[in-house]
Amino acid sequence: MSADADAAGNSAPPTGIDRSLTSYGDEGFSRYLRKAFLAGAGYDSTDLDKPIIGIANLFSDYNPCHRLMPGMVEQVQRGVLEAGGLPMVFPTMSLHESFSAPTSMFLRNLLAIETEELIKAQPMDAVVLLGGCDKTVPAQLMAAAVSEVPVILDVVGPMMTGSWRGERLGACTDCRRFWSAYRGGELSDQEIHEVEGELVNTSGTCMVMGTASTMASITETLGMMLPGGATPTAPSGARLRHATATGRRAVELARNPVLPREIMTRAAFENALTVLAALGGSTNAIIHVLAIARRAGVDLVLDDFDRVSSTVPLLVDLKPSGTGYMQEFHNAGGVPVLLKALESRLDLDQVGVAGQPLGELLKDVAPPASWQQVVRTLEDPVGPVGALAVLRGTLAPDGAVIKVSAATQSLLSHEGPALVFNSPEDAAQRLDDPDLDVTADHVLVLRNAGPIACGMPEAGSLPIPRRLAEQGIRDMVRVSDARMSGTSYGTVVLHCAPESAAGGPLAFVRDGDMIRLDVPGRRIDLLVSSEELESRMKGFEPPALPARGFQRLHAESVLQANEGGDFRFL
Ligand code: FES
Repeated sequence: MSADADAAGNSAPPTGIDRSLTSYGDEGFSRYLRKAFLAGAGYDSTDLDKPIIGIANLFSDYNPCHRLMPGMVEQVQRGVLEAGGLPMVFPTMSLHESFSAPTSMFLRNLLAIETEELIKAQPMDAVVLLGGCDKTVPAQLMAAAVSEVPVILDVVGPMMTGSWRGERLGACTDCRRFWSAYRGGELSDQEIHEVEGELVNTSGTCMVMGTASTMASITETLGMMLPGGATPTAPSGARLRHATATGRRAVELARNPVLPREIMTRAAFENALTVLAALGGSTNAIIHVLAIARRAGVDLVLDDFDRVSSTVPLLVDLKPSGTGYMQEFHNAGGVPVLLKALESRLDLDQVGVAGQPLGELLKDVAPPASWQQVVRTLEDPVGPVGALAVLRGTLAPDGAVIKVSAATQSLLSHEGPALVFNSPEDAAQRLDDPDLDVTADHVLVLRNAGPIACGMPEAGSLPIPRRLAEQGIRDMVRVSDARMSGTSYGTVVLHCAPESAAGGPLAFVRDGDMIRLDVPGRRIDLLVSSEELESRMKGFEPPALPARGFQRLHAESVLQANEGGDFRFL
């Protein structure tokens, strides 16, 4: 495609191969050189007259969740070709939870920047972003929010479950459950080794309602993915068919552009918050959605999550809040059926990449069927309102979060003495100490695990100290400035802001201080006098910044959890 002039002689904006020309100071030369290289790669003018669809491929041997992505890429390419477009695949970094030190969250903003810049720098009329594993989709949505070309997302889809000795297994809620049983002496070395071989049965993303499943469902709700894309399993034909449809739709979007910022409106985010509450979704989604909204120019704040969550009951029965896996969610109809169940609470005028208002799309969707129990109705929910709660108090003046639906109900109002760990490393060293002075009433406090300190790892669900685990204790109140995996469970207060490395109150807790958790009252408090706390705060010295590189940029620029953890300059 080339730039045309209208009747008044104005040049139309460049399209296709004429977009984003390399700057040589001579546009004709830039175009000529680009075409020369493309000719060398086998493209001719018939190819180059078509709308170009970029396809971001996040395959990596370091990302087992994305092992089947090459097959999806092929399907998207097929869809693009069928619709008359030219597919052009490009790589971006691929982040896997278990292969990213210190944590994939540390690299989320880097992937967002990389994706944003590659969409800008390379000629494409629309782009398909293929993601899946936890931080990939948030980063892609952050990039999409500022894109000047249409963007459509698709995901690799959830894994299928495995089984061990007749028991169904899934990553990673069952990873943690079995590990906790192993720590408590209920499983032998051989048995935990056998479990290890069955937890990740296929390629795909964790098949509980962890961060990947939550963010896929939110992407579909926001309208940035074609309907039905969040739940088909990674090895299924439905997954491949959805990828093909995505490729076809991308070409239509290239011909009739709708930009992500026209889709990701305030009302779309309100719909997403409703779905997040009904899913009992990952606490990580709170940080990610805040970051995406900020880039989209939507003024979303932490309290919006509590406001919506306190009116929407838990409707989806999936681990870790419930019992099922993504396969059941998909078989029950997936996100469209959940949206149908929530129809009275949603803004039905929202139009996403499918091009039709949500209300129109839902006309053909049946409500939750009686033969299944995974997706329930507002009249017959899985659990009460308030699956996610936002807390404030003297330990978290700018906010903290807790996943109420995955906590022990009797611990939601609890007062106990603090046992403080200065870092994730300190916790790892001391939690198994047989002489650790700890009881089940203690509140385990972890600090120096926030965004500035170390990129905010998923260290917040501290393991139960071994001597208590061996006594059968499976949950305790834990408080930190860290995150936890969306697949985790327990009475875990996370994302305390400001973090300790920024001089937040967590930095000044001492062993034995009393801490009160009051989830019904939405409070988390350090029970020392304000005079005492102020005197402890005097002379606070922030930790030294990393010497150089991305670590330095990150520590200097990252926002706190309640602001989404993006870089302040973005
Ligand atoms: Fe990739 Fe869970 S580790 S989604």
